[in-house]
Amino acid sequence: RIAYVNGRYLPHSDAAVHIEDRGFQFADGVYEVCEVRQGMIVDLTRHLTRLDRSLSELRMASPMSRAALTTVIREVLRRNRVRNGLFYLQITRGVARRDHYFPSQDTPLTVTITAKSTDPSIMTRKYANGIKVITVPENRWDRVDIKTVGLLPNVLAKQQAKEAGAQDAIFVDRNGIVLEGASSNVWIVTADGELVTRPAEYGILRGITRTTALDVTAKLGLTVVERDFKVDEMMAAREVFLTSATGICVPIVEIDGKPVANGHPGTASSAIRDAFFDVAE
Ligand code: PDD
Repeated sequence: RIAYVNGRYLPHSDAAVHIEDRGFQFADGVYEVCEVRQGMIVDLTRHLTRLDRSLSELRMASPMSRAALTTVIREVLRRNRVRNGLFYLQITRGVARRDHYFPSQDTPLTVTITAKSTDPSIMTRKYANGIKVITVPENRWDRVDIKTVGLLPNVLAKQQAKEAGAQDAIFVDRNGIVLEGASSNVWIVTADGELVTRPAEYGILRGITRTTALDVTAKLGLTVVERDFKVDEMMAAREVFLTSATGICVPIVEIDGKPVANGHPGTASSAIRDAFFDVAE
């Protein structure tokens, strides 16, 4: 495997950054994960637009033009022979003696990219069987709209899910309002048949898959309501599913040990998934 580190393509085992990188010391950096299907990067433009937004919210400059970044990403995919898989791109505020203040303006950002092929049969199984999740209390900062590498609450939530025999965790605020998954957005089909996902103006990451799934539903003639919903409404739903770049649209069949509806994946999630790659760019 080959990784990109600050202008160089290195064997994965030699790809390293300095111990005083601000990503390492302060989680002072941002990232994107993009799915690759049949050699095509799914929704690249939207991911790069969100990356620019994350950088600007943290007052970091773009390290290179979008065209140059795209060239590097494609080169990493090519060198790793990825036709179906993903790439991970991370940008941190660079290397400097540890000090909370930003380093001097001329400190270069650290840009790293890795890529890997994925086994499609793992997702096929998740789509067929659905996954189990747990709910966890929200304990993150209130700028989760920025895709930063500060993911400790997400890591702890996912590990807790794993130890509970589930695959994922859903953050819920103190009023019982469902926020998002530890690395995904949440959708429900209510008992009345309404397709709902919560607004992305605050409190969650505006998922790129969520945005494209909204386009997909429009194309399918489905009405989506963007509004808050609580845990009770989710537990009583006909269908619950997650969207993310890595899973696209994954049905949930059990929440906190209780089945969703009849405990089988529903039809809305499979309809969105089936039409997804016709709409994604
Ligand atoms: N995570 N919410 C959170 C907290 C996420 O970390 C992610 C993605 C999403 C979905 O966003 P998108 O549709 O753009 O992938 C929502 C990536 C996949 C990760 O951390 O691996």
